[in-house]
Amino acid sequence: MSQRRIPVARPTFGDREESLVLEALRSGWVTQGPMVERFEGAVARAVEAPEAVAVSSGTTALFLALHALGVGPGDEVIVPSLSFIAIANVVVHCGATPVFADVDPSTYNLDPKAVAAAVTPRTRAVLVAHQLGMPADLDAIEAVASRHSLAVVEDAACALGSRYRGRPIGGSANIACFSFHPRKIVVCGEGGMITTRDAALAGRLRRLRHQGMSLSDLARHRAKGVVIEDYPEIGYNFRLSDIHAAVGVAQMEQLDRFLEGRRAAAARYDRLLSEVDRIEAPRVPDYALPNYQSYIVRYLNADAATRNALLEALDARGVASRRGLMAIHAEPCYGDVGLRGPLPETERAAAQTLILPMYADIEADDQVHVVEALRDALDGTGKAT
Ligand SMILES: Cc1ncc(COP(=O)(O)O)c(C=O)c1O
Repeated sequence: MSQRRIPVARPTFGDREESLVLEALRSGWVTQGPMVERFEGAVARAVEAPEAVAVSSGTTALFLALHALGVGPGDEVIVPSLSFIAIANVVVHCGATPVFADVDPSTYNLDPKAVAAAVTPRTRAVLVAHQLGMPADLDAIEAVASRHSLAVVEDAACALGSRYRGRPIGGSANIACFSFHPRKIVVCGEGGMITTRDAALAGRLRRLRHQGMSLSDLARHRAKGVVIEDYPEIGYNFRLSDIHAAVGVAQMEQLDRFLEGRRAAAARYDRLLSEVDRIEAPRVPDYALPNYQSYIVRYLNADAATRNALLEALDARGVASRRGLMAIHAEPCYGDVGLRGPLPETERAAAQTLILPMYADIEADDQVHVVEALRDALDGTGKAT
């Protein structure tokens, strides 16, 4: 095999990102200013939400959404354990308790029946992730939530451009939170966004991200004469810089192209993998159009040690891959917190899944190499070598 190295993810940056960053620098306005406003407008249009509020990361977006809903000590929030640890950490940072519910093994998203079983009189909200860009079954989750008067917050960190029943993720009646970390569809370096249909909530989120200040710097700058701000409630510094937002504006202009590239690459993997035994390609429910933020496969009948050996074998063949999704409840920092019963699908998926290289401009040739490396690693004995 050749010694080329294929990364697991790679952002696509070009002249447009450079020129907008320069524009921000030359304007002298480098935080929470006009470029952030442009970025918010671009995301709001793309997800068909009337309001988009930029913040410093996907994690601060999730935290602020829960905080604005009043989630606090004594409350429980239902979350998947099979996800990224930020989804549980933000609940803890609100002073509340994350309660882990099991997932549907075909999508790795929260199983609505498991959510219903996890509800107690203390439950305030469900934090539902669209894992790796695969839309969760929102109608089913919302039906459980409305039976128990729970808020639904969507962790859409990975789901920009994904669609549920034809509608973009982020445009529903729920609060949705996005991330612009380098492994996401649109990349700022760091950054997050909250989308909502509720204008009053958006106004409050805008204050909370900026120390609770009643007027943004931009509003004061644009006002005639001197305006003195006040602080009706205690907030945070979760501002996004205009330098990061400039990259985001340039990336949003290319969103359709990024999505096309990823969907074409996923279709190519689907075809190539149909001839590889023991590796199951992602399953896409009828209601979902994923963005393929990641391409996750299941190594059938594997345990964590066999799967990890496969990751090593791929690495030795020049292919960077990662374990699929973590099980948060298994991490030492969570101890017994939030565990109310067994999570068999979560544990199976955490042991058996892996992520293959996926980015908007991945070469078809490189994908062929990835699948050849996979076949080679699995070959012979039936075990990873
Ligand atoms: C499901 C999920 N939630 C939350 C986050 C946190 O986003 P960020 O890294 O921007 O804080 C991530 C990103 O890594 C994620 O994948």
